[in-house]
Amino acid sequence: MNAPTKVPAAKAWHLQGNWAPVLDEIDVGPLTVRGTIPPELRGDYVRAGMNPRSGHSDHWFAGNGMLHSVQIDDGQARYRNRFVRTPYFEADMNLMSGMFDPAASPANTNIIRHAGRWLALEETHWPWEVDRNLETLGAHTFAGQLGASMTAHPRVCPVTGELLFFGYQLAKPPFLTYYRADAAGVVLEAQPIEIPNPVMMHDWNVTRNHVVFMDLPVVFDLKAAMRGGAPLAFRPEAGARLGVMKRNGAAGHVRWFEIDPCYVFHPVNAHEEGDRLVLHVCRQEQAMAGGFEEIYGGERTIGRLWRWTIDLAGGTVVEEQIDDAPADFPRIHDGLVGLPARWGYMASLDAKAPSLTLGQYLYKYDLGTGARITRDFGSDSRLGEPIFVPRQGAASEDDGWILALRHDESRDQSTLVILNAQDFDGDPAAEILMPRRLPYGAHGNWMSR
Ligand SMILES: [Fe+2]
Repeated sequence: MNAPTKVPAAKAWHLQGNWAPVLDEIDVGPLTVRGTIPPELRGDYVRAGMNPRSGHSDHWFAGNGMLHSVQIDDGQARYRNRFVRTPYFEADMNLMSGMFDPAASPANTNIIRHAGRWLALEETHWPWEVDRNLETLGAHTFAGQLGASMTAHPRVCPVTGELLFFGYQLAKPPFLTYYRADAAGVVLEAQPIEIPNPVMMHDWNVTRNHVVFMDLPVVFDLKAAMRGGAPLAFRPEAGARLGVMKRNGAAGHVRWFEIDPCYVFHPVNAHEEGDRLVLHVCRQEQAMAGGFEEIYGGERTIGRLWRWTIDLAGGTVVEEQIDDAPADFPRIHDGLVGLPARWGYMASLDAKAPSLTLGQYLYKYDLGTGARITRDFGSDSRLGEPIFVPRQGAASEDDGWILALRHDESRDQSTLVILNAQDFDGDPAAEILMPRRLPYGAHGNWMSR
């Protein structure tokens, strides 16, 4: 989209330094390893990112999706990267030209596995299926049951194997649709949800019996976008609400709870305690208040750990800040999604930087007490989303490893760090050297064998 930028687009933050794209597709291995990769770690670490094929994009959100994988077997590792070849890629589209074709996904935000499929996701289009070698297979519409879009943050229920997700749509009602698919990926429910405004709903919350939508005031303005203005802006006067719905058979019946206007890109986890729903989230005071490019950056536009407790019997929400460390990209043990989880893992952010800047720390939070364990990688390091991989036959929740991409800014070198999650601030078990810099990006997952 030809949205106006406050700085010349060539110098936009998302094209500088290690945000700049890499343009070739390679397959390299075995990679050099410092330390020892745990032999029981077998699978693919896969991460999506925004990587404009032309070397330029008008906005961070607009870059072509590139998948990077580190395939780990028998203590050895290989690297591979591929663009996701959607119509958005093939026709070299931008956000605006791709907006009205659900197949024209940048596919740049996340990659998940469900029912044997690997799906590359972006939140305003259909998912795109890729194979284990990251070759593009085609758009996935859940046998035609999917509307115009699917969130990049679905949840796989660890109890039922269901895929729970939503789609939001900016151009016309219904602005929101809820979906529940069974463990085989067959859509069982598709429920339109009424919300007052077309808002950017990046992520949501799932518990054992409920889902909680976040109607937060980053509001779409089609007229402004058509005029070349900012398509999304922070409008606190639109209000902020949490929408609680039963996961199964609620027919779109949602109870809304008002909260203070804010923005949350990513919740950590949510669970039920009797009549209460407890949500841990990375809350920021605002997003895009200073323009479409202002996603993260500065004290008020950066995530911090908060807890929202929704009392379904009393009809209230208690909002509490848990910590003041700027952090986002939270993960937990995926086997505890929607259930009480003790440990949350997050990447630090630099609150002094004017745009999204990853920090030198990874954090391990005790969500019960709010206590934080910090792993410092040194001032030249920038750490990405920490993904927890459980050990087979694990004896406790944090018995496993944290996998995170680290970039050393002074050496311009990227590595995949493997930390023992129970020795979080100790030396890494291993660090795998990437064959060239791996650009900063968005989300990924561990695809175990
Ligand atoms: Fe996200």
